[in-house]
Parts: sequence; structure tokens; C-alpha cells
Amino acid sequence: MDPEAMTAPHTQTDAASPTPVSGQLPGTESAGTGQLGPTGRILPAFPTPPALASHGPARVIALCNQKGGVGKTTTTINLGAALAEYGRRVLLVDFDPQGALSVGLGLPINRIDLTVYNLLMERGHDVHDVIHHTKVDGLDVIPANIDLSAAEVQLVGEVAREQILARVLRPVLDEYDVVLIDCQPSLGLLTVNALTAAHGVLIPLECEFFAMRGVALLVETIEKITDRLNPRLQIDGILATMYDGRTLHSREVVSSVVEHFGDLVFHTVISRTVKFPDATLAAEPITSYASTHGGANAYRQLARELIARGDAA
Ligand SMILES: Nc1ncnc2c1ncn2[C@@H]1O[C@H](COP(=O)(O)OP(=O)(O)OP(=O)(O)O)[C@@H](O)[C@H]1O
Ligand SMILES: [Mg+2]
Repeated sequence: MDPEAMTAPHTQTDAASPTPVSGQLPGTESAGTGQLGPTGRILPAFPTPPALASHGPARVIALCNQKGGVGKTTTTINLGAALAEYGRRVLLVDFDPQGALSVGLGLPINRIDLTVYNLLMERGHDVHDVIHHTKVDGLDVIPANIDLSAAEVQLVGEVAREQILARVLRPVLDEYDVVLIDCQPSLGLLTVNALTAAHGVLIPLECEFFAMRGVALLVETIEKITDRLNPRLQIDGILATMYDGRTLHSREVVSSVVEHFGDLVFHTVISRTVKFPDATLAAEPITSYASTHGGANAYRQLARELIARGDAA
């Protein structure tokens, strides 16, 4: 199937589907019930991951989609926070000059002296000096701000320009279990650096018409990186975001993504709820801002699914 080809949009509410209760949409938060999940497949059980006796080395995962506003940053923050709740040591890397990840975790990005930009472009910095702890135990972040926008141009003249982020992160990999890199919505040199530093790519796709437009180009880029720069790179999974099980349209998008990508699509889907922008405004992950909300449980399930798949420790 041509990934660009999609069924026509349906925006009406499907009267046959169950009514969601208090922010939870059907089939999105519970696993292991033997029932069909929102992706049209039997939802397996994703057991609570065992505690780790020791930490590291980290698996590095880039959250990538050159389409804007699909949930990359929201997923980086909330998947990271959920993994930290399960006792994983998690480092988030803000790799977008907009700095949305840093702001979403309460960092005053305009008053921070050292960001990922300094690590990339200047020699002699200790990466530990650029890492900030967050309010969530076990969740750390390397911030970014608008300075990073200059790096795309400045990196062009550097030796081994695609491998600079990998080099910057190497000294701390043994201290974390998972590193999540929040990419900007482009396939430029910064994103190429993220893909070169990563073991896996997680692709969030918004459940909207044309969700898969551009995914063929993204997959082609990933294949080029695998061939030329980073043979270990693999696609860890495709995550359907902003899902609304009440609309036929959302369900059609998910089933056409599953039809195309099969088991690469996570069983977990993330529902559309205003709690996510609310949590961002409060500068907190949803797992602490609205701990019992379905959206928080969905990211906990994603963390368990990632670990159950072997894509995180
Ligand atoms: N599941 C969701 N339900 C409702 N709103 C959401 C959801 N996920 C993200 N959002 C909101 O949608 C907007 C875009 O999300 P986000 O910033 O995570 O996307 P992004 O892919 O990182 O965007 P960009 O490409 O600009 O970096 C934000 O306002 C966010 O709060
Ligand atoms: Mg973003």
C-alpha cells in the first residue's frame, strides 16, 4: 500500500462506539484483557517491569517525525516520566531550538547559560554541567533554546558533522537506562545527528487525515542513516497519538497505519485530551499533573510495552 494513500476523512462521531468515561477512551489504557485494542489487534499483557539491580548502558531512542505537532515532545516528556516511575534512569535531550521540552519541564530556557548547543559547538564542556534534574525522580534533561537554531548551519563545516551528538552523549550513557531525544520537525542535520546517536526511532503519528504523508521520506532517511552512518539503527515503533475512539476517522487512520506497518505499530495509542496541553502549561508530565488520568496510564502502558518489546531495559 502506498503510505500516502489514505481513506477519506470521517469526522462524525460513531454512535456505535462506547461513551468515554472521565477522559478515558475505550481500549486505550488497559492491557492484557484478551480484548481487541484500539489498533484492531488483541491487546497483550504488558507486565510491570522488574526493578533494575543496576543502571546503564542506555538505549538511545530518537523521537522523530518531520511533520510538526504530532506529539513528539509530549511523548518524550511523558514516556520519560513513566519510565522513571518504573525506576528507570532517564535522560531527555531537547534537540529542538523551540525548547518546548525544556519549557514543558519548567526550565527557564532564556536564563540558562549552557544548553545542548554549547555541547555541540564548543569543546571542553562536561556534559554533566548541562544536565538538569527535574521534579520527577530519575528524570533528567539536557535543555535547548533558540541558540540551537544556529547549529544547523554551523555544523555543516565541522568534521564528522553527523556524529557530534553521539560523541557528546557517550560519557553519560552508562549512567542512564534510556535516553530520549526530542527532534525538531525537520530532517536536517540536527535530526541526522539524533538518528546517528540513536539505537531506535519512535515515530509518533497523529490520528488525522494525511497522518502518513511524509512517513515514506522519513523511513527512507532512516534507511540511509542505517546504510551510511549507524548500522544498528532500527525503527522501535510507530505510536498513534491524539486518538479519538468515538470517531470513525481516528479508527480508520489507526487501521490503515497497522495495515501498512503491521507489528511496528504500538498496541498503545494515546488519546486526544486537553490534559496534555494543561500539563505542559503546568510544566509537569501528565503522570504527576494528573496521575490517575487515562492519558497518564496510556504513557505508563507505552513504557511497559517498550520494555516488554525489549526496546528499553
Ligand atoms: N494526546 C494529545 N491530546 C491533545 N493534545 C495533545 C496531545 N499530544 C500533544 N498535544 C498537544 O498538541 C500540541 C503539539 O504537541 P507536541 O508539541 O508534543 O508535538 P511535536 O510533534 O513535538 O510538535 P513540533 O513538531 O512543533 O515539535 C501541543 O500543544 C500538545 O500539548
Ligand atoms: Mg516538539
